[in-house]
Amino acid sequence: MALRGKVAIITGASSGIGAGIAVAFAKEGANLSLTGRKQKNLEEVVKDCKKAGCQDVLTNVGDITQDAFRRTLVDTTKKKFGKIDILVNNAGILLMNPLISVTKEEYDTTMAVNLEGPLFLTQLVAPHLIETKGNVVNNSSCITTMTIPKDGLYTMSKAALDIFTRYLAHELVSHGVRVNSINPGYVPSQLGSEVMTDELQQSLINATPIGRAATPEEVGHIVVFLASDKAAFVTGECFKADGGLSMTTPALA
Ligand SMILES: NC(=O)c1ccc[n+]([C@@H]2O[C@H](COP(=O)([O-])OP(=O)(O)OC[C@H]3O[C@@H](n4cnc5c(N)ncnc54)[C@H](OP(=O)(O)O)[C@@H]3O)[C@@H](O)[C@H]2O)c1
Repeated sequence: MALRGKVAIITGASSGIGAGIAVAFAKEGANLSLTGRKQKNLEEVVKDCKKAGCQDVLTNVGDITQDAFRRTLVDTTKKKFGKIDILVNNAGILLMNPLISVTKEEYDTTMAVNLEGPLFLTQLVAPHLIETKGNVVNNSSCITTMTIPKDGLYTMSKAALDIFTRYLAHELVSHGVRVNSINPGYVPSQLGSEVMTDELQQSLINATPIGRAATPEEVGHIVVFLASDKAAFVTGECFKADGGLSMTTPALA
């Protein structure tokens, strides 16, 4: 069990990749502090984590863009488990619009969830990670090295997250805290299905050399590795898990 006894906060754990990471962490012996906005979904994920062997799961339902909620998340986790070893900044949104049409509201919403959430939550968790010599894993995307129609705003937010990963790794390395990101390829989830056409989703699969989409659990296994002591020499890394998607030049719908 690579994460036995470790305490992990996972944001956006109520569905998709975050749920996959939560179950993968549960299988590896972690104690979990899970967040999302949809309580019912979060409860389903807790059931899956319990089946996977984690009996004691803390949940906080709320909006990660709100400072008061971020403080509650950190305080309740510390109070319940006595320490924090791992922060997985996974919550994210995708709004698709060409950059020449993007509204201020779309920009603010995207940056608030995809960039400000990780930045300001990490600031609150950092003192606890310094105590435990823990680590951060951010969920970015392989898209930061690609160009996909109408995805400029999302890609900008994830590219900034990659820079955040590198700079934070540099700032915290002397404290024994590692910082990495997972940069997945296409994973079917509510994030994509809400805004991408079926044709675009299929083109992403067709353009993936491995020949299929990833599953949330597969991404979860890599986050387990990055968060575990097996990756003790890895920091500042943006780790692509994209089935080769970003090494192709796909013709996308
Ligand atoms: N799917 C892909 O192909 C893909 C590829 C690369 C990277 N990613 C990244 O993977 C991460 C997870 O996405 P996903 O594909 O698994 O989509 P998803 O199923 O829609 O999951 C998104 C999660 O983020 C949470 N969330 C969104 N806005 C929030 C807010 N304001 N406050 C708190 N929680 C919020 C959602 O909570 P509720 O549903 O409860 O509101 C949900 O748990 C994202 O950062 C995404 O950019 C996805």
